[in-house]
Amino acid sequence: MRGVWMLVHVLGFTLWLGGGIATMVAGVTAKRMAPAERLAGYKLIGAVQRLLVAPGALAVVLSGLILGTPYMKQGDVPGWMGLMMAAGILGAIGAVAISVPTAAKLARLEPDARGELPEAFQGLRKRQILAATIAGALGLVAMGAVTLGKW
Ligand code: HEM
Repeated sequence: MRGVWMLVHVLGFTLWLGGGIATMVAGVTAKRMAPAERLAGYKLIGAVQRLLVAPGALAVVLSGLILGTPYMKQGDVPGWMGLMMAAGILGAIGAVAISVPTAAKLARLEPDARGELPEAFQGLRKRQILAATIAGALGLVAMGAVTLGKW
């Protein structure tokens, strides 16, 4: 059973961090597009966040807590594991509570009457950049802890 939870764990961070990087590349590429096309790009980003990032982040935390139960029961959580858990949980909260809902709001925007980006766009975009950067960076800290931090 441990192998199954480890598979869920690995699939989870692949979806979460992969979706995060796809979001970053798509957002930067969409900068060069006209308003209507750029907003269409944000609809795709919304789907990536909702269908990949959110379930991925939730899967990482759920499987991580299950895998970690024996260590926590024994009170014997090594430093790298504690760092992976703390950074992973905080990053997942940032992704699921801020980044994904903000992406959903951006995905619903339409061009204004003049065919320009609506007023709400820039504020939501800034919030998305900040939340996704912090959440992604915490995910990478967790990854660093379980790789570089173990040796
Ligand atoms: C993006 C965040 C995360 C990444 C990239 C990540 C990565 C990994 C990797 C690569 C392993 C395999 C380690 C090995 O066998 O050498 C692992 C194992 C594990 N992870 Fe995570 N993890 C993350 C978040 C979490 C969270 C949030 C928790 C707990 C709440 C957690 C708990 C565990 C536990 C308990 C193990 C099993 C360690 C063992 O038995 O050797 N991880 N993780």
